[in-house]
Amino acid sequence: MKQVAIYGVGGCGRGVMPLALDQWHARGEPHQLVFVDDNPPADECNGHRVLTYKEWMAEPATRRYINIAIANSKVREQLADRCRNDGVSFFEIRSAKAVQLDDVQLKEGAILCPFVTLTSNIRIGRHFHANLYSYVEHDCIIGDYVTFASGAKCNGNVVIEDHAYIGAGAIIKQGQSGQPLVIGRGAVVGMGAVVTKSVPPGVTVVGNPARPIVKA
Ligand SMILES: CC(C)(COP(=O)(O)OP(=O)(O)OC[C@H]1O[C@@H](n2cnc3c(N)ncnc32)[C@H](O)[C@@H]1OP(=O)(O)O)[C@@H](O)C(=O)NCCC(=O)NCCS
Repeated sequence: MKQVAIYGVGGCGRGVMPLALDQWHARGEPHQLVFVDDNPPADECNGHRVLTYKEWMAEPATRRYINIAIANSKVREQLADRCRNDGVSFFEIRSAKAVQLDDVQLKEGAILCPFVTLTSNIRIGRHFHANLYSYVEHDCIIGDYVTFASGAKCNGNVVIEDHAYIGAGAIIKQGQSGQPLVIGRGAVVGMGAVVTKSVPPGVTVVGNPARPIVKA
């Protein structure tokens, strides 16, 4: 029996469980699909069992597959490392309503929610999360553990470095061939921001045009 799990019973995990169910059903292989959570709020959620990681690892299995459905990219990375070290494989969750066009390379563990579009000549790193209606346009390079909230719009010739977070409805202006607009490592683009220039690593920007956030 294959053991399959969604890591995280939060909003992200609950949102993608039905997609994973459809995918694994379509594969037609005997399997058991559950939630794994380190602090399970209950032993059942939306009709699915919730196990701790330790309990899940104790279930008999021919092979284990997991998707880390945790929005926090640092936690996502830590959990992915732990699973990899334990010999757990990663599976991608991809809605049948997601669109992928030409020459898109996506590394392991991604989540592509309904109505996500990836156009052409795109490279995307590990454990990418693309929420509802977000898109990545042509000639973009996206790093590892990058998160797109719903409706995030990344136009062409943009580089997004590892652990960057793009908030709901944000729009990133296109760069140029050989001169990409760069969202630096760990930068945060606030919801609704219109990003017209590169964002340095670790900086949070908001507004239109997007500027570093000023806290009172
Ligand atoms: C940008 C962001 C990360 C800042 O979070 P934060 O550090 O907790 O900031 P605060 O909420 O303390 O807000 C600080 C100030 O920035 C303003 N602000 C926060 N987010 C803003 C945004 N997206 N656009 C414009 N102004 C914003 C606040 O109104 C506040 O202004 P004030 O000091 O004049 O009252 C956050 O607001 C955000 O946009 N997150 C993305 C949310 C999202 O997309 N969620 C999707 C869930 S799937």
